[in-house]
Amino acid sequence: MKIAVGIDSLGFAAPQGFLDLVDLAEARGVPAGKYVDGLGVRRMAVAQPWEDPVALAANAAARVLEGPGVDRERIGLCVVGSETAVDHSKPIAAFLHGLLGLPAQARVYETKHACFGGTAGLFTALDWIASGSARGRAALVICTDIARYALRSAGEPTQGAGAVALLVRERPRLVSFEPTESASWSRDVDDFWRPLDRKEALVDGHLSVQCYLDAISGAYRGWTELTRGKVALARRCYHVPYGKMALKAHRHVRALDGLSEAEADATFAREVAPSLAMPAELGNIYTGSLYLALASLLRAEAASLEGQHVGHFSYGSGCTAEFFAGRVVEGAGALCALLELGQPLEHRKRYTVAEYEAIRGGDATADRTWRGSGAARPGEFAFVGLEKEARRYQRVPK
Ligand code: HMG
Repeated sequence: MKIAVGIDSLGFAAPQGFLDLVDLAEARGVPAGKYVDGLGVRRMAVAQPWEDPVALAANAAARVLEGPGVDRERIGLCVVGSETAVDHSKPIAAFLHGLLGLPAQARVYETKHACFGGTAGLFTALDWIASGSARGRAALVICTDIARYALRSAGEPTQGAGAVALLVRERPRLVSFEPTESASWSRDVDDFWRPLDRKEALVDGHLSVQCYLDAISGAYRGWTELTRGKVALARRCYHVPYGKMALKAHRHVRALDGLSEAEADATFAREVAPSLAMPAELGNIYTGSLYLALASLLRAEAASLEGQHVGHFSYGSGCTAEFFAGRVVEGAGALCALLELGQPLEHRKRYTVAEYEAIRGGDATADRTWRGSGAARPGEFAFVGLEKEARRYQRVPK
């Protein structure tokens, strides 16, 4: 008998502070409507030096490992997807192995393909379990990133930061997947990239939008051919670099289903909008973006979606993409209530534009000069600086 595999538990972490995009619009002399309505963005998380991709990943993973029904001794694989790695050699997963006390017998590594790295990790985990290599163990897949573009560039309002952790195992309690019915689509394009010496990404913004749309067409066509109408999607989660992109994506795939733009728009509030609430709080979190959308949807509607399918679209610039469906498992609603998925969004600080610019101004040197755990809260992990050139982390006692 075939055993279900999928996401058993989920948690995310956000930096403590955010910039309101209306404040940024005012400072940049742009009509607020361009950001709020034109791009569909509200707030973007801004990471302080101690909130680096490792600390964010550890905070997200700790929420999962310390949540209900999880045995960290049974983790045999930890894959971190990231495009904001902290080292060219040592993976974020190795830092996490120490910080989280994962078993010595676990396999740990990092994957990279722009925003797709987390999905690569998820499918590796699903295949590892489905093949029997896991021998009953679970996988931890973590997506962690800080999205940075140059100040005053067109990309500036589409930044963000955050991490999402997924526990993947047999008989999952949240969402099950059918790895044989997932469709990939790839092409070599220069839409978005980050040279090795830069903290800020370079992007051909309008080309990147077109590449995303080409990729979703290719992946969605592949998925509909694979599933031949057998899978009805109740909801659709997309990679969300900014809210409006999800609307563009939705119009695009619904046109392939034969819907006019007006008909597609009429389905948007029901099929997509619930997944956009939390992305609107953090901005683009790159690898974690699709899974933050899924968390948002589950937080709002898991109970009423039990037994139904959710479409997932993952896009990584460069580019590669995947369209796949997940089935919300019976009991997911009750588990989501226990997971308190909205908790990381509570008690955040609203930075002024001057504070945001000061944080960004320190980005280039923070890795070398930062010392201490900053304003990390009890129970949170923090990057505390270099010791003999090696990165050090501490957890603030609870
Ligand atoms: P832009 O050129 O400043 O904006 O940059 P625009 O002129 O295209 O305007 C944006 C929208 O606002 C337009 O609507 C305007 O009409 C509207 P649309 O035609 O798109 O429907 N607008 C207004 N609306 C209301 N009131 C107004 C007003 N003025 C204009 N007053 C761009 C936009 C997205 C290109 C830029 O922000 C950017 O480069 N962002 C970064 C790249 C990005 O996010 N690309 C998304 C696809 S690629 C992707 O998702 C991968 C990624 O996550 C990376 C990875 O994979 O690692 C980025």
